[in-house]
Amino acid sequence: MLKEPVLIYVFSGSGNTLSLAERVADVLLEDGIAAQLRPLERSDPGDTRRAGTIGLAFPVAMFSTYPFVWDFVENLPDGHNKDIFMLDTLAGFSGGIVGPLKRAVSTRGYCPIGATEIRMPSNYARTDREKPEDGRLRSRGSEKAASFAKDLASGRASWPSIPLLPDLVKRLGRDPRSSAWRAMRRKFPLSVDVQKCSRCGLCSKVCPVGNIIMEAFPGFGDSCLFCQRCISLCPGEAIGVRGRSFVPYRGADLEKMLDMACNGR
Ligand SMILES: Cc1cc2nc3c(=O)[nH]c(=O)nc-3n(C[C@H](O)[C@H](O)[C@H](O)COP(=O)(O)O)c2cc1C
Ligand code: SF4
Ligand code: SF4
Repeated sequence: MLKEPVLIYVFSGSGNTLSLAERVADVLLEDGIAAQLRPLERSDPGDTRRAGTIGLAFPVAMFSTYPFVWDFVENLPDGHNKDIFMLDTLAGFSGGIVGPLKRAVSTRGYCPIGATEIRMPSNYARTDREKPEDGRLRSRGSEKAASFAKDLASGRASWPSIPLLPDLVKRLGRDPRSSAWRAMRRKFPLSVDVQKCSRCGLCSKVCPVGNIIMEAFPGFGDSCLFCQRCISLCPGEAIGVRGRSFVPYRGADLEKMLDMACNGR
């Protein structure tokens, strides 16, 4: 039986992970287990002391996940054998998460009870708003998340052990100043279309790494991790990659995404 409350710390740039973390919480609630979502990027890792069971939910990026997700994990307090699980969403392949994260949480004294990686539509460099397979991927993803939640509740979930090679993959993007992230920033710089921007300041508020400064218009610093959040949430669709005609992607209801990004659930 899962120890309550189950607090699921979730980061989602464009909604895929949020929708599946919500599905997990809803299925647990239907089973009578108290489960809530928390905004990972705005939570103090020390807050997890209040959880009976910790959930981590985040997207795959650079075959691993965003550096601020790793920062959260690496600053978790001593686990005292508390149960922890993870869910990530991805468009294709990760390689640098399941094994390294298991080692990271085990080293901190947690008991890793379940891990799942669920394929969802890609949120990156999209030229189509909605592809024919997107709806199918989202509904299969939702089913997988529900089945993962049932496995967690019944004690049937597992977190596989994966040998050391994934630690090398993880290192690719672990440091936000790494050459991989710097190359992305050079190749795909974000910019604002001032004709579309209403100067509402939302993008600056929701950026998980404080990379957007509001002046007359939003200005981008040099710490972008391409999480897509500002692009996905901008009400005027004013943010894009300079010189490219990519379109924003949203994998969850906009109100829910805004609520999570601005207030937490
Ligand atoms: C910067 C960036 C890097 C990504 N890297 C990977 C990757 O290495 N492997 C993969 O399968 N998907 C990758 N993706 C796709 C996302 O992981 C996937 O679409 C995810 O479901 C997005 O979740 P979200 O909507 O909760 O932000 C990447 C997306 C972005 C924006
Ligand atoms: S969220 Fe969009 S409209 Fe609002 S300030 Fe940012 S770019 Fe402009
Ligand atoms: S500026 Fe970069 S890191 Fe910040 S919200 Fe936008 S895409 Fe994410």
